[in-house]
Amino acid sequence: MRVEAWAKAPDAVRTPLLVVPVTRGMDVSKHPVVDGLDRLAGGVLARAVAAGDFQGNEGDRVMGYGSRAWGPARVLFLGIGGRDALGAGTFREAGGKAVRAAEKYRLQSLGFCLAHLDGGEPGRWAQAAAEGLVLASWCFDELKSALGGDGGEPPEPPVEVAIIVVGDSPEGAGGVRIGAAFAAGENRARTLQARPGNVATPSHLAREAVRIADEAGLAWEVLGPSEMEAERMGALLSVARGSDEEPRLIILRHDGGGVGSPPLVLVGKGLTFDAGGISIKPAKGMEEMKYDMSGGAAVLGAMLAIGRLKLPVNVIGIVPSTENLLNGSATKPGDVVRSRAGKTIEVVNTDAEGRLILADALDYASRWDPAAIVDCATLTGACVVALGHHHSAVLGTEPELVAELRSAGSMAGQPCWPLPLGREYRAQLESDCADLKNIGGRAAGTITAACFLSEFLGDVPWAHLDIAGTAYGKTKKSYLRDGPLGNPCRLLLEWVRMRADT
Ligand code: BES
Ligand code: MN
Ligand code: ZN
Repeated sequence: MRVEAWAKAPDAVRTPLLVVPVTRGMDVSKHPVVDGLDRLAGGVLARAVAAGDFQGNEGDRVMGYGSRAWGPARVLFLGIGGRDALGAGTFREAGGKAVRAAEKYRLQSLGFCLAHLDGGEPGRWAQAAAEGLVLASWCFDELKSALGGDGGEPPEPPVEVAIIVVGDSPEGAGGVRIGAAFAAGENRARTLQARPGNVATPSHLAREAVRIADEAGLAWEVLGPSEMEAERMGALLSVARGSDEEPRLIILRHDGGGVGSPPLVLVGKGLTFDAGGISIKPAKGMEEMKYDMSGGAAVLGAMLAIGRLKLPVNVIGIVPSTENLLNGSATKPGDVVRSRAGKTIEVVNTDAEGRLILADALDYASRWDPAAIVDCATLTGACVVALGHHHSAVLGTEPELVAELRSAGSMAGQPCWPLPLGREYRAQLESDCADLKNIGGRAAGTITAACFLSEFLGDVPWAHLDIAGTAYGKTKKSYLRDGPLGNPCRLLLEWVRMRADT
C-alpha cells in the first residue's frame, strides 16, 4: 500500500471513501471540519446523532454519499470512543476498520482524516493510523491459482492507496512516514511467515534477506555449513544434521550511528520447519511449525524498516536458520555437541532445538561488542501455557532493558510481560556428562529455556522475547488477519527508535 500525508482540507481529497473518526461527546454540528464533511454527505451524521444512533462509541458508524463531483464520494463517520481513552491502539484499530470498509465496497484507495482531531499526540496517532492502514492491506495470495477456490466471488482486491489527512501538522506527516515504514517491514515479515516450509527454506530466507538488504541499503553476510564448521558452531550444525536443506546464518548490518558506536543486535529464531527431530512432535497441528521462523522474520522486517528510515543508530540483525527434521544422520537424544562458545551440551530432547541454534548465534553476536542484544523466538510451548496469546514473555539480565522492551511493546500494541530469570533455575540444566543439557524438565519451561540462552552471552546486556503464543494464530484485531501476525516486529522497531533518540 502506498501512503501519503495530505496537508490540504479533507473535503478536497478526491477519494472514493473518506473515513472520519469521531470521538464520543464531540459536538459534531459545531465542529467546523466535521460539520462541513457531514453537509457534504447530506447531513447523515447530524441526523444519526439526533436519532440517538450515533454517539461516537466504538462500533458506531454512519456513511453518507458525497454530493459533489469532486472531493470524497463517500464519507464514513467512525465512532472511536471517549477522548480520554484515545491512544495509538485506537487509531491502529480505526485504520484497520477503514481498510475493511474499503474492501467491502471493492475500492482501491481511501482517505483517512486526522486533521479534525486537535490536541493529543498527533505524531503517535498518525503513526498508528498509518500502521493500521498498511497492516490491514496485507494479504497472502501468492499460492492461490486462478483455477482453484470454490468458484464463488473472487476475493476482494487489495486496497492500494491511503491518503492520511494530517492538516498542517509536521508531527502528523512524520508519524505517517514512520508508521508506513514500520508496517511495511512487518508486512514483509508476515509474508515470510506465511510461506510454507517447502518454499521458505533456510536458503530462501537468506535470499530474501539479501533482497531486503538491497532495498534498504544494508550490508549483509550469509554463512553456510562450511563457514559454520570453521566457526565451530556445533550447536547450530547439530540441528541441521537431520535435514537435506543446508542451514544459513544471516547477518544484516545498518550503519546509521557513529563509527565505532556499539551496535544494537537483534537476533531471531529462523527455524523454517520444526518437526521436533528424533524427539518427533505429534502430527496434530504440526503444520503450524512452519511459523517457527517467526522471530527471524520479525528481525528481517525490522531491518528493512530501520534501513529505509535511516535510523541514526548502528543495528545488526542475525537470523540462524535451519530445519529440524529427522533422517539417518540426525542428532539423537543423549548426543553431546560442542557449541561455538566451547560449552558442551547434552541434547536430551531434539525438539528443544531453538535454544541450540540461538546459543551459537548469540555467542557469535558478541564479536561486535553490542550495546545490547535482544532476541526473539517461538521458543517454548510453556510460554503459551503461562501467558496465552496476548503477551509475549520477556526475560533479561537488566531490569532497565526489560522495562524498555515493555514500554516499546505497549506503544507498538505488541505487549510483553516479564518472567524472572535467576541463577537458581540453572540447576535444572545440570547434565551428568556435559556442561549442560538442553531441557530443564516440566517446571518453568520458558524460564529454563532463557536460562540456557543466558549461558552464551558473557556480560552483554541482553533480553529475550518468547513469542510462541503471539507470533501467529487467530486475532480479533481489525488490522490483522488470522495466521502470521508479524509480532514482535513493531516492538523491536519502537525499541530501536527509543535507543536512537538517546
Ligand atoms: N518451536 C517449539 C516451541 C513452540 C511450541 C512454539 C508451540 C510455538 C508453539 C520449540 O522448538 C519446542 O519444540 N519446544 C519444546 C521444548 C521442550 C522439548 C523442552 C516445547 O515447548 O515443547
Ligand atoms: Mn522444537
Ligand atoms: Zn522450535
